[in-house]
Amino acid sequence: MNSYCLTSPAKINLYLEIVGDRPDGFHELATIFQSLSLADRVILKSAPGGVIRVRCNVPAVPTNEHNLAHRAASLMAKTFPQAFHHFGGVEIDLQKEIPMAAGLAGGSGNAAAVLVGLDLAWDLGLTQGELQDLGAQLGSDVSFCVAGGTVLATGRGECLDPLPSLEGIWVVLAKFTGLAISTPWAYQTYRQRFAANYAPDAAARHDRQQRVKSGAMVQAIAHLASLPEGDRPAAARSLTPLLRNDLERVALAEHPALAQLRAVLGELAPLGAMMSGSGPTVFALAESAREAEAIVQAARRRLQGADLGFWITQFSANGIRLEK
Ligand code: C5P
Repeated sequence: MNSYCLTSPAKINLYLEIVGDRPDGFHELATIFQSLSLADRVILKSAPGGVIRVRCNVPAVPTNEHNLAHRAASLMAKTFPQAFHHFGGVEIDLQKEIPMAAGLAGGSGNAAAVLVGLDLAWDLGLTQGELQDLGAQLGSDVSFCVAGGTVLATGRGECLDPLPSLEGIWVVLAKFTGLAISTPWAYQTYRQRFAANYAPDAAARHDRQQRVKSGAMVQAIAHLASLPEGDRPAAARSLTPLLRNDLERVALAEHPALAQLRAVLGELAPLGAMMSGSGPTVFALAESAREAEAIVQAARRRLQGADLGFWITQFSANGIRLEK
């Protein structure tokens, strides 16, 4: 097996509505994922001895079966045992740029890269749909990460309706270095506090998802995407009042510093700010690199002393890509 180097982009959620409960204990969602140009690199090589081995440039990242990329390789080995035996073991080298446990799907993207990379390396010829079905067995965001771009997702997050892509819009990401939020905690706490608002049955859940599919955010994205790329950043103001993340209601209530960060970015960013996924990363949209830089500088001044990391990146239309 040759060496394969893949890029695995981060995502944010421009919209995340919790629609109701599912019989499998997960939540039925209507969410809009957006890929970013900030990306990890995932390098796949043969490993002697028929083993799966993960290495990572960040020591805190687990390299055993708790790592989703490791689980992705195990799933591929289990699903395609002949290919695994033929090509031998797999070494996965993760070069992280995306902050971890951040609500940016870094781990899910790495797992998606392993699925895509092993499909190539083992010459399996899987379709994108087959790779996404495998991804759904690993986590709710993994299917999206395979193809990336701008996508409306329902179900657990694995039923995907691609939307027109929105390149050209800038993004500031801000995250407290020491703060992590557990995704199960966020969803369970949301259920404890807001289950009374859940759609009561399958028909009502479907109804709410249909309303998002034909709703204002999807229409605004379609309109923005129809504009020349250079006109999009200024017109992205149409997204600002439509940004939504229901999980903010539990995450910001639990972490006052996060609520302050969210408020500050909301004031500084003319195009708006929102927490991504189950957090704790907060993103702010910007018209230009210069505006993004100004938001970072002003946020640093306003939140002096806070242990914060900032990243400036852009919307991207790409999912997992093989590097030349
Ligand atoms: O699928 P993933 O491993 O990302 O989910 C992590 C946790 O988040 C799940 O165990 C569940 O508690 C919660 N979750 C949920 N509904 C979803 C996605 C995630 O309740 N649609």
